[in-house]
Amino acid sequence: QGAIRMFLLRSAAVASFLLACGLPYSSAFVGSGLTVTPKDARLRTAVSATASRSTPLGLKMEDPLLLRAARGEKVEMTPVWMMRQAGRHMQEYRELVKKYPTFRERSEIPEVATEISLQPWEAYGVDGCILFSDILTPLPGMGVEFDIKETSGPKLKPLRTKEQIDTMKICSDWSTSMPFVKQTLGELRKRVGNSATVLGFVGLPFTLATYLVEGGTSSEYLEIKKMMYYNPSLLTAMLENLAENIGNYANFQIEAGAQVIQIFDSWAGSLSPEDYDLFAFPYQKMVVNAIKKKHPDVPIIIYIAKSGAHVERMADTGVDIVSLDWTVTIDEARRRIGRDIGLQGNLDPAILYGPEHIIKERTESILKMAKGRHHIMNLGHGIEATTPQPNVKFFVDTVHAFKH
Ligand code: CP3
Repeated sequence: QGAIRMFLLRSAAVASFLLACGLPYSSAFVGSGLTVTPKDARLRTAVSATASRSTPLGLKMEDPLLLRAARGEKVEMTPVWMMRQAGRHMQEYRELVKKYPTFRERSEIPEVATEISLQPWEAYGVDGCILFSDILTPLPGMGVEFDIKETSGPKLKPLRTKEQIDTMKICSDWSTSMPFVKQTLGELRKRVGNSATVLGFVGLPFTLATYLVEGGTSSEYLEIKKMMYYNPSLLTAMLENLAENIGNYANFQIEAGAQVIQIFDSWAGSLSPEDYDLFAFPYQKMVVNAIKKKHPDVPIIIYIAKSGAHVERMADTGVDIVSLDWTVTIDEARRRIGRDIGLQGNLDPAILYGPEHIIKERTESILKMAKGRHHIMNLGHGIEATTPQPNVKFFVDTVHAFKH
């Protein structure tokens, strides 16, 4: 069944590419031994032109499953993808690391970034294909350099004084400073057609500021917290700059082909409610407003780690979907934020280390609570680096096999 699904997905992608080029899509199957006519119903739902909803053959095509679910439409099954799905946990990725040893080259050479972004879609048939990149990727466009060490993660020269923060600029043209992002997103749309939804993503100002102020990964965020209490106006100047840049950068990703945008404020869960309202929420909202102003129809998903205390605040930003970690149930989130907003998540990534019957039980428990209404299945945070790949496949198949 998996092989047939994969064949259909790939065939659909090839066919959609041909359609976009104005070629008859039956030519996609030359040599496959299959004769496919435009009347083939399965294919009709699986194929779509990448840029428009009607094709050169005049067929009416449906948008991809995850995009329709993100908009809150009734869907035939729950879509699934995983945060940090492209990367370390995949053997195929680790092979590429040998050839391209730095994260910057893997994410900034469009052909390599495209291949890595496609790996989980090819291996598991996930419904979302996220750009292989990082939340720090746009920083050079704002005048801030960074490096990512394979062992210890992001490294930056800390920005803590007014003079240092004044070196940040507003990027005037993202397509010249990040051409590889545009090329990768465009290529991904062509490659997956309507068999997956292409997701773009950005880091939100508070989380990005933790890296800028701390100079890298942090466990307690004490440097940025000291800045909050000793020099709040300096920090808010940095957050405002980041909000303007990130709003523009998200719009650039949409214009390059991203169909859904996920906005990550991963470390805002470390804030007290008072500090969250001062240093995270206003800047989250600025980014959401900037996207909604230019692209009101593009669904936005917000994610924060350890966010059980903040789900109402997340919903109040004006996003379409709140991505939950595993500290709340779907039912509890629904009681707290209502039914008008979508939900994503929320399997504990550690469950993917468990036996199959536990993966099935816990996954189905989430699916039952969500009832297939405005829900995208995902993990409660990024997939862990040592997750066994067969378990990941089992998780994705469990979601697709579930009947509401
Ligand atoms: O994990 C989250 O909370 C999501 C938001 C986030 C990303 N990067 C998104 C991402 C955060 C907080 C970061 C910062 C960052 N950058 C980290 C996190 C921990 C830390 O040390 O502070 C790390 C390890 C990096 C560097 C990085 N980013 C590497 C080495 C890789 C590729 C390999 C891998 O699997 O980790 C990334 C990829 C990355 N970061 C993606 C996303 C959405 C790629 C898309 C995907 O695979 O889904």
